[in-house]
Amino acid sequence: MSASKRKKLLAGNWKMNIRLAEVEPFFTAFSDVLKAGQSDHVDILFAAPFTQLNATLAASRARGFAVGAQNMHFEASGAFTGEVSAAMLTDIGVRTTLVGHSERRQYFAESDEAVAKKTVTALANAITPVVCVGETLEERKSGATFQVVSRQLETVFKAVKNHGPLANREAFYPGDLTDSIVIAYEPVWAIGTGLSATLEQAQEVHGFIRKVCGDIFGAEFSFRLRILYGGSANLANIAGLLAQPDIDGGLVGGASLKPADFATMCNAAKR
Ligand code: PGA
Repeated sequence: MSASKRKKLLAGNWKMNIRLAEVEPFFTAFSDVLKAGQSDHVDILFAAPFTQLNATLAASRARGFAVGAQNMHFEASGAFTGEVSAAMLTDIGVRTTLVGHSERRQYFAESDEAVAKKTVTALANAITPVVCVGETLEERKSGATFQVVSRQLETVFKAVKNHGPLANREAFYPGDLTDSIVIAYEPVWAIGTGLSATLEQAQEVHGFIRKVCGDIFGAEFSFRLRILYGGSANLANIAGLLAQPDIDGGLVGGASLKPADFATMCNAAKR
């Protein structure tokens, strides 16, 4: 088997953007540019704000795209004002969520332990967690990139290991991801800055992530793991990123808000 056997995955992270009235026009414009048959080459996911999930599901499901949340609480229910549980996501048909995005870690004080608990809760509810890891600029400058990424990953993977075997699951809806887990490498210094990691920097960390995963879950699982790159991925750099042996797609913020640009990025994906 060659590494090209992993289907590419392009995920748009809308963050706190896209008003309700913009959802349907977004998908019309996106679908106008997306090449026919491109879903053979790339899975496409939209991570929408909670209040826009229903509309995003309605617009995307018929077109075969997956929809995810951007966050989720690890407890099943209770006195957690402002939070949303896994079962609340599956109630409306959401089967994917971002977990541990650096903005959650940075602005909402999410610890490695909380990220690990959320990941385990997602798995227990048949939700695919897209777990985000990545170093800050200071950490990269001080040569701590691999140490930080392995600490973030190992906290999650060890918690997951106690949860039981990781098996890819069935799709609940057309377009759903079937991965048990997806990892996104997002160097914090590259997010929203226009300063993407170089292809070499990105590939180096992606290869490392696959190795850490293999050490814990074995070669077969780590071969199947999709690892996304995020951090100023755009029209100009996406083809080069997707050509790297261990980069299986992108988690795209700013550029995913422009439907034609994001569709063109999806068009760059080849199996
Ligand atoms: P960006 O964001 O593409 O705007 O850098 C990526 C992300 O935060 O997921």
